[in-house]
Amino acid sequence: MPSKFTILALLTIACTAAQAATPTQNAGARHGFSLDGEWHIIVDPYESGFYDYRYGEREDGYFLNRKAEKPSDLVEYDFSASPTLRVPGDWNTQDEKFLWYEGTIWYERDFDVAKRKGKRYLLHFGAVNYEANVYVNGTKVGRHEGGFTPFEFDVTEQIKDTHNFVVVKVDDRRERDNVPTVNTDWWNYGGITRPVRLLELDAAHVADYSVQLAPDSDTAVAGWVRVAGRADGPDRARVAIPELGIDAGVALDAGGYGTFRVAATPGLWSPEHPKLYDVRLRYGDDGVTDRIGFRRIETRGEDILLNGEPVYLRGVSLHEEAPTRPGRAWSVEDARQTLAWAKELGCNFVRLAHYPHNEAMVRMADEMGLMVWSEIPVYWTILFDDDAVYAKAGQQLDEMIGRDRNRAAVILWSVANETPNTDARFAFLDRLVRRARALDASRLITAATDTQVSEDDLRRIQDPLAGILDVIGVNNYCGWYRDKPGDCATLRWRSDYGKPVIVSEFGAGALQGNHGPADERWTEEYQADVYRNNLVMLEHMSFVRGATPWILKDFRSPRRPLPGIQDYWNRKGLLSETGVRKQAWYVLQSFYKEKAEKAAAGPDD
Ligand code: GCU
Repeated sequence: MPSKFTILALLTIACTAAQAATPTQNAGARHGFSLDGEWHIIVDPYESGFYDYRYGEREDGYFLNRKAEKPSDLVEYDFSASPTLRVPGDWNTQDEKFLWYEGTIWYERDFDVAKRKGKRYLLHFGAVNYEANVYVNGTKVGRHEGGFTPFEFDVTEQIKDTHNFVVVKVDDRRERDNVPTVNTDWWNYGGITRPVRLLELDAAHVADYSVQLAPDSDTAVAGWVRVAGRADGPDRARVAIPELGIDAGVALDAGGYGTFRVAATPGLWSPEHPKLYDVRLRYGDDGVTDRIGFRRIETRGEDILLNGEPVYLRGVSLHEEAPTRPGRAWSVEDARQTLAWAKELGCNFVRLAHYPHNEAMVRMADEMGLMVWSEIPVYWTILFDDDAVYAKAGQQLDEMIGRDRNRAAVILWSVANETPNTDARFAFLDRLVRRARALDASRLITAATDTQVSEDDLRRIQDPLAGILDVIGVNNYCGWYRDKPGDCATLRWRSDYGKPVIVSEFGAGALQGNHGPADERWTEEYQADVYRNNLVMLEHMSFVRGATPWILKDFRSPRRPLPGIQDYWNRKGLLSETGVRKQAWYVLQSFYKEKAEKAAAGPDD
């Protein structure tokens, strides 16, 4: 007789099977109901709502959302009488008692839905940091791990017309075998941090698609459509791009998958001309419209080519911190303000560090004309020799690429940041690079490395990982963690890889408003001096095709306690945490202005 645990484990596997292979593409545009708003919460650091006193999984846990019905009933929780938190939103900044909280918080909300015959109901989460166990009307519908990518569960069988409730056990504890691992230089914002929707879709519907410029021609658009639930329905879907006069059939195989290629000469997307087209995918009565740009990104020697022309990536790094309030960013308004700052700085490129940012951000980059480096949080020293950790990283890579494969702005997938130069790390990242290439041959693969060899005043990039990337990211803190600011202007670099390099981090800390001599650390003058000297250094690195200095705005970090200066904020921002410019902002802005004018004037004669 299998043990209770085995039965529970099998049930969990069966339930988790309800998780769609990849979440519905463009979920925000699909018919459905928002579940955003106030959710009741129970703070549960000991996971009492999940484990009994013998540390066995409870069958009567908080996920049942029970209430005492008779005066004699013993029920020691009551969501309806409990406090609430806003969804989406991290818990840390909604109530000061949660600023440092790490652990489990249970979320619950009621919802009604006039259930319609022949429809599927998919519960879609933009992201939950870090682990989510999801229950609908007391039944487990699935579990997801990973704090920055979307997931969904088919809850059609579990929901009723009225009096439904959803419970989510959110646990953001850092674990050594998680991705990221226990130590990072950013705040561990926990919670249901992105929007939640109940999608209502036809049983047979357009579930996923890819629509891009054909890989081998600028006069053709190609891609594929995946229909869920086709069964014995029609064997064709349709793809339409009215502005290009396209309305083509897509033959589907028995599994509902079909490819297409149609003649078309779209205006190409670029930061200067961020042209997007309405693209409509249909199957039977189901349909979805997306806004898609068409462009080509490739490398030639040490050049990065956008639509066949060499491009210099005038970038800046970003964490996903809201621009005008504390906490995680998630909204269109957050994205608009943050990217407006990047444009004001003179950027045509942003590095979304160190994890996939919210979908509003990449869609806004499409609209505003900013190229994007998107990254999974394989950060510092995760357990590279652990297959289960590789599976977690691979899942997050799949989910990042799955969500954003139709975003023209995204030109680079990054598989890592500052990982140690070991054999286990190389093997792990080599698998991830191959996986990324197999998922998406249309974009460039990169990673931020910090392995350099110093010989006298020469610094050489030397990292086996660089050999398997399309574009090499190099983090270098000349004038901050090593060398003196004045040394940077004369520091010479060498790269023997014959491929493009992006200086993916350089910078220095300064408390906004703190002034003093340029050799006094933490002053704006010191930070500006580091920028001036690093930019001179950059101009001598003939293989560099872009930079994303660290970082646009000060951000919270438990690694930065220095009283009166950091107070648990990383102060390398060009802006203070409230968006006030520091002197270094103007140093970079004028450098990018010059770069942009030179690019507009065309190549040197
Ligand atoms: C590292 C790391 C960043 C970190 C930064 C710093 O390079 O990639 O995540 O915040 O340096 O030290 O400020």
